[in-house]
Amino acid sequence: MNSRKTRVKLPFGARWFHGRRGLAIWLRLRIGAFCLNAIERYKDLEAYRRTAERPRLDEKAIEALKSDQVLEVDGTWERRSSAQLTDEIVRSNPDIYTQSVQRLIPLLEEGRVKCTINVGARVDVILSFLAKKFPHVAFVSVDIQDNLDWHNQNLERSANWRLVSGYALDLFERKEIAGDLVIFTSTANLMTNTELHSYVEAMNAQYLFFNEPLPPPLTRPSLLANPDTIDPRHSDVGSDEATRPGGKLFYLHNYRSILEDHGYKVHISEVVPLPQRPKKPPRHIVLAEKA
Ligand SMILES: C[S@@+](CC[C@H](N)C(=O)[O-])C[C@H]1O[C@@H](n2cnc3c(N)ncnc32)[C@H](O)[C@@H]1O
Repeated sequence: MNSRKTRVKLPFGARWFHGRRGLAIWLRLRIGAFCLNAIERYKDLEAYRRTAERPRLDEKAIEALKSDQVLEVDGTWERRSSAQLTDEIVRSNPDIYTQSVQRLIPLLEEGRVKCTINVGARVDVILSFLAKKFPHVAFVSVDIQDNLDWHNQNLERSANWRLVSGYALDLFERKEIAGDLVIFTSTANLMTNTELHSYVEAMNAQYLFFNEPLPPPLTRPSLLANPDTIDPRHSDVGSDEATRPGGKLFYLHNYRSILEDHGYKVHISEVVPLPQRPKKPPRHIVLAEKA
């Protein structure tokens, strides 16, 4: 008979607790942490549901967005703010901004777009690049932040590119800004369903372009997020971390249906993975034209 003891490989963390009693303590701690996480996530979801019918941002919400002055997305602000695109990067690096640029260049080359607006632009890597490439098109970066000059200080500035601070819905409704192409990157997902309808009306743009994160909806567990199955009247909720809980929550919209409701024809509606960022959810890219 083989008298050698079989060694059980304990999971990481459990190795610090010895014996059966230790393992029981470790298990209880893990279950406790799981429950706390679930309670936090439930509270987040409830808070999100409470704002789901919000027709527009109030003063308090505007101030909350403004207070987030240095946004840490994928590392440091410095890294993003110096991410000047080049033709080579656009060709060879499939990332959020290059995915947008690859689809926007053919549209701009058609020559019908005279003014492009980027809503929620912050550090506008996209317009800095496009403004240089299309000198006869006007480009406007809009963000609720007051410090747009600071955010964009490391990017190349062309004469046909300007920065405007303010709540974009107010600016469109007061006709302080208007463009025939309006683009959104990771920003329409911060808008409620009602707000998004108001934007589409107020923008009155010939072309609309969205590049938004698309994780599986939290309210309706499903492995694959299909944007066309989202209820067009009550947008879903998702998290920006595809693989673990604890990410920021935002709205998932059925862009196709919402845009068709307003008389747009959807030319592109693609779910595109981010191969270099496996922990991030795929992107939903939409290009629509007023019919
Ligand atoms: C997640 S960041 C995305 C920034 C940028 N588009 C990018 O992809 O790197 C969202 C940005 O939208 C801005 N924002 C959110 N809602 C806005 C609104 N209603 N009007 C103007 N800016 C808004 C925020 O201040 C923030 O800079």
